[in-house]
Amino acid sequence: MQTIDHPPMTWRDDQKIAWPMKKLGHAQLGAAEGAMLYYIARDWVSGRYPLLELGSFLGGSASLTGAGLMANPDWDGTTRLHCFDIFEAKFGDMAEFIRTRIDPDFREGEDFQHLFEAQTAEVAPAIEIHKGDFAEARWDGGAVDLVFVDIAKTAELNRVVLERFLPELRPGPGLLVNQDFHNADNPWIHCSLGHLIDYFELMEPRADDSILLRLREPIPAQALAEAGRWEDLDPSDALARVDRLLSLFREGGHDTRYIELVRARLLIRGGDAGGALALVDEALERFGPGDPKEHFFWLRRCRAVQQEAA
Ligand SMILES: C[S@@+](CC[C@H](N)C(=O)[O-])C[C@H]1O[C@@H](n2cnc3c(N)ncnc32)[C@H](O)[C@@H]1O
Repeated sequence: MQTIDHPPMTWRDDQKIAWPMKKLGHAQLGAAEGAMLYYIARDWVSGRYPLLELGSFLGGSASLTGAGLMANPDWDGTTRLHCFDIFEAKFGDMAEFIRTRIDPDFREGEDFQHLFEAQTAEVAPAIEIHKGDFAEARWDGGAVDLVFVDIAKTAELNRVVLERFLPELRPGPGLLVNQDFHNADNPWIHCSLGHLIDYFELMEPRADDSILLRLREPIPAQALAEAGRWEDLDPSDALARVDRLLSLFREGGHDTRYIELVRARLLIRGGDAGGALALVDEALERFGPGDPKEHFFWLRRCRAVQQEAA
């Protein structure tokens, strides 16, 4: 359900604020979602409750969220953006990303905190670093205005977000951004959000790969624990959860293509590779190849699901 009671969504018309971050190229973030982070930190949050960034990498998202917070007229000067990351290139393609863009000699597992600090130098007064394995991470700083999630790359890490961080999001103004929503690689995220979606209002269906939700009411601990189930979640229950997201998006007339790829991944997981291939074919027919400006990864993501099903 869409609300009308919210500050302006400036990022929809003006993404210039994110251009320096894109030009530098030290981020795994698009201009639309980067601008969204800036404007929600400037115009939507109170400036008096902490903001959480779960997954910081080289500081692309932190530089924009921190700048937004510092430009917020109600910022009290002490409230921080808390950045959680291991700051060592141990996961995914982090080391390769740094090698190709910044330092050809950068090694697997090497520390990259200095690169984060370089990109966030101008907003350092608004940032606090929490370095370490997120599987062990906790938050004891009380209620927060924003949880930005770019770290739920495994079902286990997704549960850490749900059980240790989301309970501190303030019902009413609290905002959740999940940066992997329009990406079918992490389908546990959709199973969680599909289970919890009635606790949220859909504010921005898509800014690049991100979704923006606003928390309506407190989520009981039991619902958060149930939302985190993945390994033992029955395939039909998983599909039902994702179908709730699909219904919400269809009702609002929003683009469902990436959620359909998540559905295809769940069909593969449930043993129905043929159903998954048919779903991708149907999506390709309906959505076409996609404008590369808007959907740069669309075809690549379709191919990845097709390969997995083959
Ligand atoms: C996609 S990147 C974040 C991108 C960032 N938001 C940006 O704007 O460029 C994901 C981050 O999650 C971190 N990460 C993944 N697994 C982790 C873990 N178990 N503990 C701590 N950090 C982890 C990686 O180090 C990486 O920096």
